[in-house]
Amino acid sequence: MRDGKKLRRPISSMPGVSQTSVDEMLRDAEAAAEAGVGGIILFGIPEKKDAKGSSAWDEKGPVQRGVKALKSELPDLAVITDVCMCEYTDHGHCGVLRDGEVDNDATLDLLTRSAVSHARAGADIVAPSDMMDGRVRAVRAALDNDGWENAAILSYAAKYASAYYGPFREAAESAPKTGDRRGYQMDPANTDEALREVIADINEGADAVMVKPAGPYLDIVARVKGETGYPVAAYQVSGEYAMICAAADKQWIDREGVMMESLLGIRRAGADFIVTYFAVAAATALQGR
Ligand code: PBG
Ligand code: ZN
Repeated sequence: MRDGKKLRRPISSMPGVSQTSVDEMLRDAEAAAEAGVGGIILFGIPEKKDAKGSSAWDEKGPVQRGVKALKSELPDLAVITDVCMCEYTDHGHCGVLRDGEVDNDATLDLLTRSAVSHARAGADIVAPSDMMDGRVRAVRAALDNDGWENAAILSYAAKYASAYYGPFREAAESAPKTGDRRGYQMDPANTDEALREVIADINEGADAVMVKPAGPYLDIVARVKGETGYPVAAYQVSGEYAMICAAADKQWIDREGVMMESLLGIRRAGADFIVTYFAVAAATALQGR
């Protein structure tokens, strides 16, 4: 989501995916609802970035306006907002920096402000994706305080420091200018830490937990589902999408076949719902069955 009108800026590494203005997003959302998609997640790109990412809680920001428009035009579609600072900070990190490192506790305050601004706009679900410690508790308290007890939290609980996010960082213009996200995202070699993060987020009040990426982390999806029994989401990320699209474009694989099989694998591992750039295509394919 961006400011503007009739804006549709294709993302080269993600065929069929574009940055859009609110009006164009509504057209996409209508098509998604029509195809049977149950919900959509919004990401914002602000006009102005600064060190604190202060556009993130602007009530006239593209995400806040987008949520409002969606809830008035398509009230049955679940609206999820991504809550993170990396699209809004000029340095591209998921929080505020102190001495070049992300300052966990100072970031919580900014995340809660963003989450509350999304809830005020009408978001059904806020999805903190920053991986700061204590963020679910902080966001839950801030929402309750502002009268949004019914807004749910989908926590990106097990978010790995993955090379599969490459295309998204082009899409969201959110690549860190210096360093990387390994200080706050998880080590791909680690399983137990994922379980600890998930359990911490559940204890802090998450309504559902997400594993990300999905395909290369199906063992984590299965373990989280098996050990917690909680609603589990899996995020098939930009790189997973881009690889399938690229190979299909070369006619090396069958696009629809691999798309459906990749999603089926995620479902089989235990995901209750899937965040995917294939949502409309997959829902359309499922309707035809
Ligand atoms: C923001 C965020 C990212 C993604 C979702 N939310 C990027 C990141 O952590 O670098 C990635 C999604 C994708 O690759 O599709 N923290
Ligand atoms: Zn981020």
